[in-house]
This record gives sequence, structure tokens and C-alpha cells, in this order.
Amino acid sequence: MAQKTLLKGRVLGFNGSPFEDEPTDAVRVDEAVLIEGDHIAAVGSLADLSAAHPDAAVVDYRDHLIMAGFIDPHVHYPQTAMIASWGKRLIDWLNSYTFPEEMKFSDPDYAAEIAGRYLDLTTAHGTTTMCSFCTIHPESVDAFFTAAQARGQRVVAGKTCMDRNAPEGLRDTAQTGYDQSKALLQKWHGMDRISYAITPRFSPTSTPDQLEAMGALWAEHPDCLMQTHLSEQTDEIAWVRSLFPNARDYLDTYEQFGLLGGRGLFGHVIHLEARERDRLREVDAALIHCPTSNTFIGSGLFDMNGLMRDGHRVGLATDTGGGSSFSMLRTMAAAYEIGQLRGHPLHPAQLLWLGTVGSARTLRMDGCIGNVAPGMEADLVVLDLASTPAIAQREACADDLWEAVFPTIMMGDDRAVADVWIGGSRVDR
Ligand code: GUN
Ligand code: ZN
Repeated sequence: MAQKTLLKGRVLGFNGSPFEDEPTDAVRVDEAVLIEGDHIAAVGSLADLSAAHPDAAVVDYRDHLIMAGFIDPHVHYPQTAMIASWGKRLIDWLNSYTFPEEMKFSDPDYAAEIAGRYLDLTTAHGTTTMCSFCTIHPESVDAFFTAAQARGQRVVAGKTCMDRNAPEGLRDTAQTGYDQSKALLQKWHGMDRISYAITPRFSPTSTPDQLEAMGALWAEHPDCLMQTHLSEQTDEIAWVRSLFPNARDYLDTYEQFGLLGGRGLFGHVIHLEARERDRLREVDAALIHCPTSNTFIGSGLFDMNGLMRDGHRVGLATDTGGGSSFSMLRTMAAAYEIGQLRGHPLHPAQLLWLGTVGSARTLRMDGCIGNVAPGMEADLVVLDLASTPAIAQREACADDLWEAVFPTIMMGDDRAVADVWIGGSRVDR
């Protein structure tokens, strides 16, 4: 018999989208959640669940918020050690800080050290699933999946392919990029909770031959996700135009090689043209908003309101280490601030949804993670809504749940994370 645990607290789940309904109508708050083995078995009133499951161990989280673990659908785990590097915009930032750091991942010991450090840090911040770029080194993929597998985490990652405009030692070729990606995919995809994502970094660092090979690999494995970057900075877009003079726009540099589809994840997507927006919507591709990165690298202001209104599938991500935080709370705060700058403040229910259900939808995993409901995998974060004196004094005069939650979204960090559950087990941090 699977072990039963009853968690008591304020259990927050979504029964709709806070972007389609009145935000608060999309939310359900219950008194308890029952974990059975590695899944959520029931959500409901404490009296009902205690009576039905007298054999369950009880953990009392008082008035803490119990919700789905955060899901971060665009990160670069190899950039953990160079997060918060000063003063550069995208292309200079890649050349000055990112590529030298990624070079170190030819060493499997270094890759294992950073993979473990990254997963420790993100777990401490309440993130239970992420979709990560690795480096061009197959060792960097093995290190990440090995570390995640040992922790029982649901993760997605892929070997970052680059065959031009990157330094010697950080380039593969169209053929080796294809061969190594395929071997890693065959080794890892579908093992335990691991999924492989085909990963061309972005079109400036891949030749047309490599993009074509990546498209061919995706066509052979259409159940895999594909992740890349799109339309992050205006200088980058101009560079893409000069590298692909025949392309209709930036998106076309992927589309013409079979790298556009419903299981594609496109990071940043800030300066989109009308055709690009329409095509991304038509194929139901995933758009990943990375707000701390977009302000940190100076990229621009994502059009959350317009893209949501048009029915795009949007997730929220840190983009570690272009992003300046490992925290999805901090990332929600930045999304709120960018919304304000565009004249559309996001409701706290929308922010929490983006970092859980919304991000799970971008990974096509909303059937198993990202919400608290019977049958879902038991990945949970428990939030203390009074984790610092500054937050506590604001929370103390809150009139409703949303006023109580919003200070933690805006000012919270890993101190707000009281507990994390992964695959039905409490993580010993
Ligand atoms: N575009 C291509 N590579 C990267 C990266 O590593 N980070 C960000 N923010 N943008 C990119
Ligand atoms: Zn990125």
C-alpha cells in the first residue's frame, strides 16, 4: 500500500484560467491535500479527508499556502555560476561571460558540480520542474539528467547545438550536433521523469545546414519538445536578417527548416512582427516570458496582455543566468512590473498561474504537473506568507487571500519557501 500523507494548510489550485475568467474565479482554496505514493489522491475539507483516511500521516502547515511546485520552462543551468554579470547587452554578454563559462562543461566533474548546485538552489526557491539548455557538450546533458534523476524530478533538457559564431571548443557541426542530440535523446527521453528537448541555441549560432538537421531530428521524434530563442533584442534581429537575407523574418529562419510546431518553445519573443505572431498562434507554439532577463540584459517589454488576448500559450521563466534570479517569485514580480510599464497590472492569481499551470502547458505537461488536483504528480511548494518582517507587517493587514499573497510575490525569496515536495516526498534541504 502506498504511503498516505495529509497536508493541512491553505491549498491553492486552479479550476480555470485567470486570463479567461475573472482571475479569482479560476482559483480554488481547500483545507487539505492527500498525497498517496507519488501522486495527489484528493483535495478537500480537513474533516472529510481525515475521516476518509485515518491512516494518513498528517503534516500541519497552519495558514501556509500549499500549491503546485513552480515550473521554469526556460533556463540555462550552465549559467548558474555567472548569473548577475555586469554591463553587457545580449551579443556582448554571450561572448564576454556566457561562452567562456559554458566552455568549462567539457569537464564532466564541473558539469556535475554545477548541475547539483543549480538543482539545490532552485529547489530552495520552490521550483520543481524546469526546461534547461545545456552546453554543446554531451557530458553537460548527462550531468543534468543524472542529478535530476537522483532527486526524482520531472525535467526537460537538451544539448545546445551551435556550429557557427561561437568560439573554438564551443562548436559542433551539423552532423555531430544531430548525432549527439539523437544519441542523448535515445538514452534519456522517457526515462523516469526525464524528457529530451531538441535544442538549437538560436539561429545566429547555427548554419542553415544545422537548423535543417535539427528539423529532421524533430520530425523523427515529434513527441520531443524543441526549444530555442526568438526575437529577444533588436540588434540580434538585425543580425539574423543579415545572416538569413532570404528569410521573411526571424521566425522564418526556424520555420523553413521544420523548427516551428506545437511542441516548440520560443524564449523571449519580445519584438515580434505581425506574421510571426500569427504563425506562432496558428501552430500553437509556446511563448516563454523571461522578465528578469529582459530587464537585466535590456531586451524590452513582453506584450503579455496582447498575446494572452490573442490566445497564445505563454509560460513564465527565469532564463538563469541571463535572468537575475533563481526565484520564480522574483520572476513573477518582474512580470508584474513589466505589465505595469505596459499599462496592464497582472493579478496575483495570474502570476501564480503563469508560474505553474501556464508553464506546465508550455511543456505540454499540464496533465501531470503544475496544479493541485487528484491524479497530478505530487510536486508541491509550501509558502510562508509572512517570511520576513517586511512581508509579515504587510500581510498582517491584508483583507483577503490576494492581499496576503501579493507581498510574498513582490518581496519574497527562498525564505518564503517553508517546504518542498517532489514526487510525493518531502525534500530534506
Ligand atoms: N540567446 C542565445 N543564447 C542565449 C542565452 O544564453 N541567454 C539569453 N538570454 N539569450 C540567448
Ligand atoms: Zn535563454
